[in-house]
Amino acid sequence: MTASAPPAIAAELRRLLANSHAPHSGVHVAAAVEGDSGAVHYGVNVENAAFPQGLCAEASAISAAVTQGETRLRRVWVASSLPGLIWPCGGCRQKIWEFSEPGCEVVSLAYTGEQEAHTIEALLPLGFRLRPRAG
Ligand code: THU
Repeated sequence: MTASAPPAIAAELRRLLANSHAPHSGVHVAAAVEGDSGAVHYGVNVENAAFPQGLCAEASAISAAVTQGETRLRRVWVASSLPGLIWPCGGCRQKIWEFSEPGCEVVSLAYTGEQEAHTIEALLPLGFRLRPRAG
């Protein structure tokens, strides 16, 4: 699926890459999530010397959304300093899945301007549920 992020969101993601704290990997990531109120919440990756403690940009953006009371996401955008498109790690796919409306699009933006989108269900076909449906 090709996608087209609003230019203001694409520009803000590019700006926020400078705030990503990635002294260990050198990979800078910025993410945005749109809640069902229409508000957009942003986050960057925040690394830590104790490596597993690091936070992905998507998790950061979801934290910002939930802090504002938004728990139903319509769309996610992600941009990085790497060449080409990147896609959320497995843990972030589960986080997005748990907070998303059905059909929530995840849009990846490359530095070159290329964009591509996939639904969260395509990225994570069988997410974990605490209360599985019977049958
Ligand atoms: N990272 C993200 O923030 N989001 C992704 O979708 C993939 C990876 C971060 C984690 C780590 O700080 C750095 O990128 C390299 O793995």
